[in-house]
Amino acid sequence: MKILKLMMLAALATMVVTSCVQNNQKGKKEETRKVLVLYYSLTSNTKAVAQEIATRLDADIEEVALVEPYDTAFQATVDRCKAEREKGILPEIKPLKSNIADYETVFIGYPVWFGTFAPPIASLVDKIDLSGKWVVPFCTFGSGGLESSAKDLAEKQPNAKILPGYGVRAARMDAMPKELEQFLNMYLGRPTFAPADFPEQHLVSADEAAIFDAAVNGYPMLNAKSKTVASRTVLDGTEYLFTAMDMPREDKPGMPPASEIQVYVLVEKDKAPVFTRVVR
Ligand SMILES: Cc1cc2nc3c(=O)[nH]c(=O)nc-3n(C[C@H](O)[C@H](O)[C@H](O)COP(=O)(O)O)c2cc1C
Repeated sequence: MKILKLMMLAALATMVVTSCVQNNQKGKKEETRKVLVLYYSLTSNTKAVAQEIATRLDADIEEVALVEPYDTAFQATVDRCKAEREKGILPEIKPLKSNIADYETVFIGYPVWFGTFAPPIASLVDKIDLSGKWVVPFCTFGSGGLESSAKDLAEKQPNAKILPGYGVRAARMDAMPKELEQFLNMYLGRPTFAPADFPEQHLVSADEAAIFDAAVNGYPMLNAKSKTVASRTVLDGTEYLFTAMDMPREDKPGMPPASEIQVYVLVEKDKAPVFTRVVR
């Protein structure tokens, strides 16, 4: 399955979602519920995004529930995931109340765990058939994982039409409603700001390296040094795309191996630089 071209699909997605809204305004009950938001969330970040999407699109919403919920204590969840992976099993989910066949568009939301969608969503996509549906992934994460999880979703559901998704860091949930408004404009056929492509990367200057360091400093899962960068104007300021080398830290076992990463950094007027996502 391919992740299809943004512009073409966004135009089609606009038609799918707006037709639902218009039908809704006319009060045709069956036709108003063509968008479903399905999500899993352990600590409520993804739930907040799911609720925001459902409200803005007037969509149906359902939480994917586990027969045996994960523990909210981080290490307990890590240990259980490891044990499940070693046994080659996925957690059992409760049957869905929604009938997927009733929907044209399904938003699927999840926290990123170990670089991809959390196991309850792996269980879900093993069980349901999204063939022919428009599917919009959305996620929350510590540092990133939208791209990798969308790719994994496309592999699991090769006949689904996967549209561009939305992801936000757990540390930036405050920015989520405004970002979602922009993101969903594309699906609602409303005017939206489209930033120019990034120009070619150049070697970082001392000032740019300082912006990178300020953005990633204090994030425990990164130990990265910036190499090259490009920047562009976005709605709220300047966005930088850094290429950096991330090194494992000896005092932190379990960190990813040394690798080249891409880090998106946002600098808004009068605000400190923040990284918005890491692509590994
Ligand atoms: C077991 C576990 C694994 C995680 N793995 C990652 C990861 O690989 N990458 C990442 O950026 N964040 C990771 N996180 C952080 C979560 O994605 C993040 O806190 C998310 O916002 C939680 O969403 P929720 O509140 O909807 O459960 C992990 C969290 C847990 C509990």
